[in-house]
Amino acid sequence: MAYAAYVFDAYGTLFDVHAAVRRHADAIGPDGQQLSDIWRAKQLEYSWTRALMREWKDFWALTEEALDHAFERVPSADKSLRADLLDAYFKLDCYKEVPAVLKALKATGARVAILSNGSVAMLDSAVRNAALDTVIDDVFSVDELRTFKTDPAVYDMVTTAYRLYPDAVSFQSSNRWDVAGARKFGFRTVWINRAKMPDEYKDLSPSLILPDLNGVE
Ligand code: LAC
Repeated sequence: MAYAAYVFDAYGTLFDVHAAVRRHADAIGPDGQQLSDIWRAKQLEYSWTRALMREWKDFWALTEEALDHAFERVPSADKSLRADLLDAYFKLDCYKEVPAVLKALKATGARVAILSNGSVAMLDSAVRNAALDTVIDDVFSVDELRTFKTDPAVYDMVTTAYRLYPDAVSFQSSNRWDVAGARKFGFRTVWINRAKMPDEYKDLSPSLILPDLNGVE
């Protein structure tokens, strides 16, 4: 079954969030993975608490605050790398299969878009850095709504803009919580289980589980 639109989460799904720390792995030392894990976990926690509080800050500000917290928790990591890590996060690598998969979907005539918590500036930079600007039709950022996933209003940006029913949209995310939110909204969902995590949110299950984006159709 072909869908009218294929919409992708950005961070963790198209772009490798651990690539920033990996790029500076030698300078960071042995606790780099721990730093990266805390950085990502706190960035997400801040997005959920702020969405519930309705005290919004953009995702870049949360990314900076989360990195500062991670540095406090991982004293072995050299804080003078802060600017380099943030610069690397602004220009994250995409996963290797991403360009070919997106091009093939676009060639079917479907719309190809990003729907992300990321700020407009972050997403524009990541898309340009990965040379995905010619294949992605639209980048939907939460900036205009001043909330975060899993607020249904975020998923609704796509259906409103494209004048589609939710079940005409296939939504791909590596984040199980995001798949749950998108499924609740009514999208067809594909969980890209890159990290080989056990399933969660079992009442809000994906239609398909893949190890990477190959096979999305
Ligand atoms: C995003 C984050 C949550 O791109 O991965 O929306």
